[in-house]
Amino acid sequence: MDSIGSAGLRQGEEALSYPEEGLPGPSDSSELVQECLQQFKVTGAQLQQIQASLLGSMEQALRGQASPAPAVRMLPTYVGSTPHGTEQGDFVVLELGATGASLRVLWVTLTGTEGHRVEPRSQEFVIPQEVMLGAGQQLFDFAAHCLSEFLDVQPVSKQGLQLGFSFSFPCHQTGLDRSTLISWTKGFRCSGVEGQDVVQLLRDAIQRHGAYNIDVVAVVNDTVGTMMGCELGARPCEVGLVVDTGTNACYMEEARHVAVLDEDRGRVCVSVEWGSFSDVGALGPVLTTFDHTLDHESLNPGAQRFEKMIGGLYLGELVRLVLAHLARRGVLFGGGTSPALLSRGSILLEHVAEMEDPSAGAARVHAILQDLGLSPGASDVELVQHVCAAVCTRAAQLCAAALAAVLSRLQHGREQQTLQVAVATGGRVCERHPRFCSILQGTVMLLAPECDVSFIPSADGGGRGVAMVTAVAARLAAHRRLLEETLAPFRLNHDQLAAVQAQMRKAMVKGLRGEASSLRMLPTFVRATPDGSERGDFLALDLGGTNFRVLLVRVTTGVQITSQIYSIPESVAQGSGQQLFDHIVDCIVDFQQKQGLSGQSLPLGFTFSFPCRQLGLDQGILLNWTKGFNASDCEGQDVVNLLREAITRRQAVELNVVAIVNDTVGTMMSCGYEDPRCEIGLIVGTGTNACYMEELRNVAGVPGDSGRMCINMEWGAFGDDGSLAMLSTCFDASVDQASINPGKQRFEKMISGMYLGEIVRHILLHLTSLGVLFRGQQTQCLQTRDIFKTKFLSEIESDSLALRQVRAILEDLGLPLTSDDALMVLEVCQAVSQRAAQLCGAGVAAVVEKIRENRGLEELAVSVGVDGTLYKLHPHFSSLVAATVRELAPRCVVTFLQSEDGSGKGAALVTAVACRLAQLTRV
Ligand code: G6P
Ligand code: BGC
Ligand code: BGC
Repeated sequence: MDSIGSAGLRQGEEALSYPEEGLPGPSDSSELVQECLQQFKVTGAQLQQIQASLLGSMEQALRGQASPAPAVRMLPTYVGSTPHGTEQGDFVVLELGATGASLRVLWVTLTGTEGHRVEPRSQEFVIPQEVMLGAGQQLFDFAAHCLSEFLDVQPVSKQGLQLGFSFSFPCHQTGLDRSTLISWTKGFRCSGVEGQDVVQLLRDAIQRHGAYNIDVVAVVNDTVGTMMGCELGARPCEVGLVVDTGTNACYMEEARHVAVLDEDRGRVCVSVEWGSFSDVGALGPVLTTFDHTLDHESLNPGAQRFEKMIGGLYLGELVRLVLAHLARRGVLFGGGTSPALLSRGSILLEHVAEMEDPSAGAARVHAILQDLGLSPGASDVELVQHVCAAVCTRAAQLCAAALAAVLSRLQHGREQQTLQVAVATGGRVCERHPRFCSILQGTVMLLAPECDVSFIPSADGGGRGVAMVTAVAARLAAHRRLLEETLAPFRLNHDQLAAVQAQMRKAMVKGLRGEASSLRMLPTFVRATPDGSERGDFLALDLGGTNFRVLLVRVTTGVQITSQIYSIPESVAQGSGQQLFDHIVDCIVDFQQKQGLSGQSLPLGFTFSFPCRQLGLDQGILLNWTKGFNASDCEGQDVVNLLREAITRRQAVELNVVAIVNDTVGTMMSCGYEDPRCEIGLIVGTGTNACYMEELRNVAGVPGDSGRMCINMEWGAFGDDGSLAMLSTCFDASVDQASINPGKQRFEKMISGMYLGEIVRHILLHLTSLGVLFRGQQTQCLQTRDIFKTKFLSEIESDSLALRQVRAILEDLGLPLTSDDALMVLEVCQAVSQRAAQLCGAGVAAVVEKIRENRGLEELAVSVGVDGTLYKLHPHFSSLVAATVRELAPRCVVTFLQSEDGSGKGAALVTAVACRLAQLTRV
């Protein structure tokens, strides 16, 4: 049945006629024959030139060089490894295009390394010509129909079938299950398919057919199926060669050499699509008049020139054109022809294979020619065999030159002098054509002598290989589903964010009224932002962020800052309060000495970034520690007092502590000095928090109804009353449980730098336990707390960082990963940081809307002073916060000002304002 038929040749028309000259004499006839057969002779030099030119085109295309357009496409296939043999499961395989006018459906059972081999069950269906040349939808409906006809007779369930689609045409793949047809070849020319995703077209057809629920999980080129299906011998096949109706090859290229792929490690299978090779310089000399005639009369003139000299769809036609030519020239069949001989596609590959096969014998050739309506003489039979041999030998040699180019490319890519490689071969020209493979192998050895090549005939035409790829794709698809399920709770929609905004708004009002609320809304006694008249030198301390800083702030018409960073060892942060404050005073003294300020008692502003109930500008009762601090005997104490006592303990030091401010307030003041519209302070660093200027009339517990006061919201604790439970995930719970303040700072633990890395680590642990990541190998390092720093998120998510660098960061952590792993880790980081930024944005939206309504404004323009490592360093955090605020508070125009000098400057300005006001009251 499956003759490599005449599909692809325009039917019935008379072939181009050659000028008839009188019947030649015997000497003329043999010359005519020689001249004819000579055309098909290809010299070693010509083959080497084809090999070199094809190699050149391959490397051009790999480099992504667009012009001149490379003669071959070199299409990445998203198959990154040869089979492990561990693949298991039952798969449906649909093969379209490999064998011309037929498609094949297979049921393949993979049994992994342990199980015994199960022979695939298959059925072939002839594709009507009008379907091959008709509307694309018709072709895919035909395929869906064949699928269900095949499955109807298989003892299988109708549900959850996984299908691998072997689609043997040039396609741009953008995933294992996404592939766009570039152009039809081999007698196909359905409309409405080129430029389309053929997987989607098949899915739509299966859906329309509705008989089976089939999941198309992978699309594969037939050469890839052939390579992946090769039985695991001494070494896996790394080249797949197909010569059937068409011809092509694929091979495992070093990923770093494929420019379009952002990869620097591993290998990727590349489909060469050498059928389109048409370098005139190399091919011109070997193209015969018969090749030009065939191409001219084909469905796609000018395209697939190389394929038209090798593919089984064309070999029979080339032989027919030569025989018709010789017959007309009176050299063959006594100058007689027949309608069949003059009809395109009447001589099939099977005919050529038989006629050329010495074992077939003259009688068989005679019979075939008679079937074509010819009455051959004995010499005709022999001559016909020569013509078949000439056409097929050239095809095999040209194919060998192309394969030799692929082998040279493998050598170059792997910088190897010699190469040992196994080539899987498939297709009926290889399988059925007696001499094709031996000529191919012999010529390859001549053209690539330094390559030790073993040829492994494909056992089942690649069906098993397609199932292997489908198994890998199914595993990756399952992993992707598990990843999506795991990350889904982190993907907050508009309603969820609006609910957080509303929740926060309610908590703000309750907090301001002094009612029970997870937002303490602490008055800060800062009534105004600086007005620029402040003057003097001030000391400032900045405690609570990543670094502890001591600053000298000189306020004149501008602000000059001299500062020094000191470390706060964990033992001090979690030691005794006395030890902590003595350490602080030590740093101050050290700073004063270095700045030549010893003995001077400058007014000091203390940025203390923890929740304090302030009783005045210089009185702040620490409510509770956060962010990993836990010094004893401090909570419930006035920290200004604790500092003064430490100063007292350290005799000979005089310091005038004037103000204690929260880092949010310091940041607002610092930015307010430049932009008076700055009435909100936001910190997204180790911890997170916000403050803003509230109407005094709304602040219970502080006398006065006019004017405003800055309120420290302490929004880190938002949700400590369970109001965020609907958003909290098991990973948040794990991070909270493991923290030194479980149940506390729930909002902070979903947003800030101290926790995001840990959330990611817990998600990676979970995905590893599901086998989705790192091949399910739990590594010691991933079990280590805080090993996945939040700064890794900023680095991994940076656009300029290619996947390879993502891998480098993770490998430094000792994580054995594949590119898919790196991609998934990137997605986990993106999901966690996106949620953090959106929650932060919902918080800011609640604040700006509160201010707008406080002031009864239609529209509010306000600025927010921001500081904090996460906000400043993460590549997308700030833009995501701004986008969320625009979405949730469209009537507010919010400008985010990144604080340059930190909140120490703000503390000094608060101190300066206090001193100026104190001055005023004294005069
Ligand atoms: C700046 C401010 C500090 C603030 C810190 C927060 O450094 O000066 O007052 O605490 O930012 O960010 P961080 O990432 O250091 O926690
Ligand atoms: C197609 C290739 C295919 C080859 C062998 C060519 O016409 O372009 O994609 O691999 O035929 O079937
Ligand atoms: C503290 C706040 C501080 C924020 C940012 C939180 O843990 O409770 O007072 O503003 O971190 O540093």
